[in-house]
Amino acid sequence: MSIVYNQQDKLLTLTTVNTAYQMQIDDLGFLRHLHYGRRTGSQDLSYQVMKFDYAFSGNPVEYRKERNVSLDILPQEYTSCGVGDFRLNSLAVINADGSRSARFQYVSHEICKGKYAIPELPAAYDNGEEAETLIVTLRDDVTGLTLKLSYGVFEKLDVITRCAELVNDGTGSVCLEKAASVCLDLPLGNWDLLHFWGRHAMERQPERQTIGHCITTVGSTRGASSHQHNPFVIVCDHEANEDHGDCYGMMLVYSGGFKAEFENDQINCVRAVMGIDDTYFSWKLEPGQSFHTPEVILSFADGLTSLSHNYHHFIRHNICRGKHHLEKRPVLINNWEATYFDLNEDIMFGLAKEAAALGIDQFVLDDGWFGKRYDDNAGLGDWFVNYDKLPNGLDSLIGKINGLGMKFGIWVEPEMINEDSDLYRAHPDWVLAEPGRVPTFGRNQLVLDMSNKDVVDYLYGCLSALLKEHNIAYIKWDFNRSVCNVYSHALPAERQGEVSHRFVLGLYSLLERLTSEFPDVLFEGCSGGGGRFDAGMLYYTPQIWLSDDTDAVERLVIQGGTSYGYPVSTMGAHVSAAPNHQTGRTTPIHTRGVVAMSGAFGYELDLTKLSQSDKEEIRKQVIQYHQDEVLIHQGLYYRLTDVTKGYYTAWQFVSEDKSKSLVNLVITSPQPNAMPLHIRFKGLDPDALYRIAEDDRVISGAALMNAGYTYPQIGGDYPAVQLHLSRIEE
Ligand code: GLA
Repeated sequence: MSIVYNQQDKLLTLTTVNTAYQMQIDDLGFLRHLHYGRRTGSQDLSYQVMKFDYAFSGNPVEYRKERNVSLDILPQEYTSCGVGDFRLNSLAVINADGSRSARFQYVSHEICKGKYAIPELPAAYDNGEEAETLIVTLRDDVTGLTLKLSYGVFEKLDVITRCAELVNDGTGSVCLEKAASVCLDLPLGNWDLLHFWGRHAMERQPERQTIGHCITTVGSTRGASSHQHNPFVIVCDHEANEDHGDCYGMMLVYSGGFKAEFENDQINCVRAVMGIDDTYFSWKLEPGQSFHTPEVILSFADGLTSLSHNYHHFIRHNICRGKHHLEKRPVLINNWEATYFDLNEDIMFGLAKEAAALGIDQFVLDDGWFGKRYDDNAGLGDWFVNYDKLPNGLDSLIGKINGLGMKFGIWVEPEMINEDSDLYRAHPDWVLAEPGRVPTFGRNQLVLDMSNKDVVDYLYGCLSALLKEHNIAYIKWDFNRSVCNVYSHALPAERQGEVSHRFVLGLYSLLERLTSEFPDVLFEGCSGGGGRFDAGMLYYTPQIWLSDDTDAVERLVIQGGTSYGYPVSTMGAHVSAAPNHQTGRTTPIHTRGVVAMSGAFGYELDLTKLSQSDKEEIRKQVIQYHQDEVLIHQGLYYRLTDVTKGYYTAWQFVSEDKSKSLVNLVITSPQPNAMPLHIRFKGLDPDALYRIAEDDRVISGAALMNAGYTYPQIGGDYPAVQLHLSRIEE
């Protein structure tokens, strides 16, 4: 039993292998948060609750009943609003009478087997007897607004998911102005925030800072989870490092705008609140209607590495779905950085032929195959083949590519539209744009109104026809601009605050229809690279193109930063040309291969222009990737260095049974007179002996982990070294 209710003390305790979570229904009916973190046994933790007279300190107290209780200092599971907790709120409302308060008190709870689902939203799933669910119901007596807090406890996985539902059980309408998914109060400790900022072609750069006595916010108001911030954050002890220290992860399963807020309050309690971005949010609930927030995946671990391992496993097994999520992924060649918009059947087939000869499994036709798409000014919305570029149609090219023994994949950007498209000419009211205002363009394109069911149905028609009529094994689903001018012509004025969220629901409904109707197709997410890299998209697309920056050295930070929350099997990573198209840097093809192999691997360069020795290297890389793929995708991942510092980056994969390991190292800023490098490996069996294939030495796991491994001098520009370790079985 991972969820236990102690009726006498009104305690609800959630337990996972290494963590405990406890809450209590107090005498006034508030749902107090008591603990989340290391295990505490069956102890009732309510002894911690402070009883002080707060009447003079400026804090409102529950005076008529209890002078010693103030919501302003009470750790809570989800806050009320407007009634005397001045810290970050989980919720903001406008009631039918214009008042702005809600005060939630316990009504009931239920505990059941299995994991709850959330209508219309992606949510973690149970693979059979993995999870239990707790639902606590609270209510505001005056308006009848009901709050249902759901907890999914994955005992063996050290994960607790949370979400909230707001139900209007009153008689008047209620407007939700904010509805967070989670509130987590941490009454004890010195906490840092580790978050992942960035921009286009520079996503998920780790940044760590103290949570001060102020409000710190990371989030996105862009209608997508964004390049600029990621909906995954870590709150960790000031002293925590990769190996030790209290670390909490919070990951929102959502692909739209989000907000994660942190505040260290007057009594040094840190509050973290995470959920949908509320900047322009307003959701009208008529009596009887309800609103579901997206879910947050919480995990607690000792050290950042263990926390990452918890998320890697959970994303792979409990978020990503479908036929492909645990399967070997095809090694692909994508034509984008090879030819950009300059494509025709001969050029594409020429590229595919070279790829097939090198052992590559799949060809992906990127942007430019449809409508009047000669550059990025036209064509989005017209998902019909451009016969000028491909006069024999798609099937002729697909047939030839399949004839090479390769699968065929194709690029689409369904949520977007160009003004210069047949779709726009037919349906100008299908774009997001306020009446009378010229909408703001991004990459010369506008955004379709995904909150409008007609738009979603139209896209379903186009995309399902594309998949039905052609032998397509893979879809790259792009999204190349941020969303503004958020106004739907299909909704009344008072519901315009709902458009951003309804947009995301429309996207999810389309993805759900297509992924369930075409289970054999591998969907890859993308958004100008990694601008929508989140657990919401991963529910439908088990891999996402990580970044438009394909420079191997820059990728080390982007892949390393992403690795805090997401497994390498989700990170699309390609070998591209040198000099690199984004940075101009030249790195060896071997280094580019080593870096891209730590992901969902592929190539994105003009293979017809390569030297014989580069082609030979690629042939070897493809063979090696197939050999190492299980270790890389299923093994445990260790960051051996800080990805943001130092003159080299090293990382390691260890198979779950510790019998095999792959250690990778890249010199990121070559130095003159470089000294030998000394690195401690991780995760090995200390009592076993390992043979290192590359130098044929046999060294014990304990020695490699505690005394370390010394690399000989490594010279050249941005060189990479790989070491394959195998345990010597007795
Ligand atoms: C985005 C993607 C690229 C490519 C282009 C095509 O930038 O991230 O990989 O598909 O769009 O326009």
